[in-house]
Amino acid sequence: MSKSDMQTFDFDIETDRRGTHSDKWDNMFAKYGVSPDTGLAMWVADTDFQAPPAVLSCLDDMVSHGVFGYYGNDAPYFEAISGWMSRRHNWQVAPEHIHTTHGLGNGIALCLQAFSEIGDGVIILTPVYHAFARIIKASGRDLREVDMPLEAGRYVLDFDALEAALTGNEKIFLLCSPHNPGGRIWTSEELEMIVAFCERHDLILMSDEIHHDLILPGHKHVSMPVAVPESLPRLVMLTAATKTFNLPAGLTGNVIIQDSMLRRQYQTVQKALAIGGNAFGMRMAEAAYAHGDSWVNSLCAYLGENERLFRSGLEAIPGVSVMQSEATFLSWVDFSGLGMEMAEVLDRVQRRAEIAPNLGETFGAAGADFLRFNIGTQRSRIEDAVKRLQSAFSDIQ
Ligand SMILES: Cc1ncc(COP(=O)(O)O)c(C=O)c1O
Repeated sequence: MSKSDMQTFDFDIETDRRGTHSDKWDNMFAKYGVSPDTGLAMWVADTDFQAPPAVLSCLDDMVSHGVFGYYGNDAPYFEAISGWMSRRHNWQVAPEHIHTTHGLGNGIALCLQAFSEIGDGVIILTPVYHAFARIIKASGRDLREVDMPLEAGRYVLDFDALEAALTGNEKIFLLCSPHNPGGRIWTSEELEMIVAFCERHDLILMSDEIHHDLILPGHKHVSMPVAVPESLPRLVMLTAATKTFNLPAGLTGNVIIQDSMLRRQYQTVQKALAIGGNAFGMRMAEAAYAHGDSWVNSLCAYLGENERLFRSGLEAIPGVSVMQSEATFLSWVDFSGLGMEMAEVLDRVQRRAEIAPNLGETFGAAGADFLRFNIGTQRSRIEDAVKRLQSAFSDIQ
């Protein structure tokens, strides 16, 4: 292990994001009625951590130079991405296969335009990241939600349900890997089965791996092109540095396509819409990918302990069960065992505990009994959240 791999970072340092145009903190009252002065924001999927030192000094350099002209020479940016994917994911990415978009939501939207027509079916496994459905519907595509059954408290794939959901107009399978909100890492066998399904039905496979670096201790994620190289002729990879290093304000994502025909199809659309990256997002991503290994190693260890604390704290409430996250900084909590209406659960969580999580139903109807808590925050806030929630449900025996 090199010296830089052993470096640690202090994720306990409290940050105050109120009044900084933070969606999570500054929109919390309007959205959930929870005051940022006394409450805890645990919804939007960004973390409360400062970016890695290399990113901060890159931005300092940009600001002290003070000239914000058009961005050029993207070779170091592409090299940093290729280096990261090779070191961290054992995935060899050629720079010319990378397309930079205005965030990954934008990357998904561009792919829908490139690989399907209005009315075509797009399959997602629900519950899943809520913007998938929003973007698919807004693009006029036919949203096909296939619910994942729960087995021993974790989501599994149901190929009978997938086959049954087909009507013949499907063009795309959009996978979230690792899974948001459940925090599951798909096994290589499951990925192989997904690829076989896509081959059987001639579907483009979009693998959204935006959470692929946030792997909790003891777990391992394998990227789709590494797990199933046979997927490459139909595979579109979606990645970004934004979740990993907490840079979503930079709105920069990457659509990575190895197959030359798919690449041409995609490039036609991106060119026609004149969409590209921005200097701030790209320089932040470059600095992070080039110098952020030990920061991410420390972050994953920190998140692992947050996950353990939050899960054990909530599971002390009879009837509440927490899906064990293997990845991400998200905790998916099932309140159905309480036998309460969701309105009452929310009254206790939002009004009594003054905590704002995401509503499970926004991830698909199958998520209706759940709330998603963002645990990418300082340990003191996790401890506080556990105390507040235990107290809000203290009458439950
Ligand atoms: C699976 C997944 N894809 C895409 C995004 C959005 O990425 P961006 O903020 O770059 O649009 C998110 C954000 O939470 C996500 O969880």
